[in-house]
Amino acid sequence: MARTIIAGNWKMYRTRSEALALVNGILAGAGPVPADRELLVFPAATAIAAVVERCRYSRISVGGQNLHPQREGAFTGEISAAMLIEAGATHVLVGHSERRALFAEDDAFLACKVRAALDAGLEPVFCLGETLAEREAGQTEAVVASQVRLGLGEVSGADLAKLVVAYEPVWAIGTGRTATPDQAETAHRFLRGQLVERWGAAGSGVPLLYGGSVKPGNAAELLSRPEINGVLVGGASLEAASFLGIAAAK
Ligand code: 13P
Repeated sequence: MARTIIAGNWKMYRTRSEALALVNGILAGAGPVPADRELLVFPAATAIAAVVERCRYSRISVGGQNLHPQREGAFTGEISAAMLIEAGATHVLVGHSERRALFAEDDAFLACKVRAALDAGLEPVFCLGETLAEREAGQTEAVVASQVRLGLGEVSGADLAKLVVAYEPVWAIGTGRTATPDQAETAHRFLRGQLVERWGAAGSGVPLLYGGSVKPGNAAELLSRPEINGVLVGGASLEAASFLGIAAAK
């Protein structure tokens, strides 16, 4: 049975002190969130250690938003898996559409990042999804299949216990235009099929998150779908009340 994960990607929002205020609010209000839901937040790199410290012995796990595939080296501005781990991160985002589009990260580079994260003991949350043009051209499945095949090209069946995949249609990110639960479920079913086809039974346990304009008002229906094992929330994760509204949605 896949886990239910409620994740917040804070992107380039919230300084260290603001991040602490946000996580304090989440911790204070987490009581009504069902016990079988895992909470996961991705603060900016400069806030990870402080948020980890604050979340010690709590139900909130903390991840990094990015990593470089090399163990160390002359890569100004980058962050390594070991640096994230020492800061207390347990997860890392890889393949977010903003990294793909704005920082030109291609599938081959993402495959190296996924491998580096797994080798270091970080759980990658691998993001994929089609653009509006691709959806309108009827290419959603082809795009998703290729992102799985290439981006997860270095992953073995044994790695899957430590992998999360997030389907984030690019046209739904930050636009207020959520995929309908039917659209999301259809994509998740296809994605599940790809994982099972490639890795067999191990592919059936990988949590599949939906991301793209998730709000307290649409979370319950998305989370009620059997193939939607959680959500990856951007804008609505930046306030404790809306993040908790999503996390508690039934
Ligand atoms: P929004 O929830 O703001 O649409 O962002 C989704 C996202 O990119 C999460 O990674």
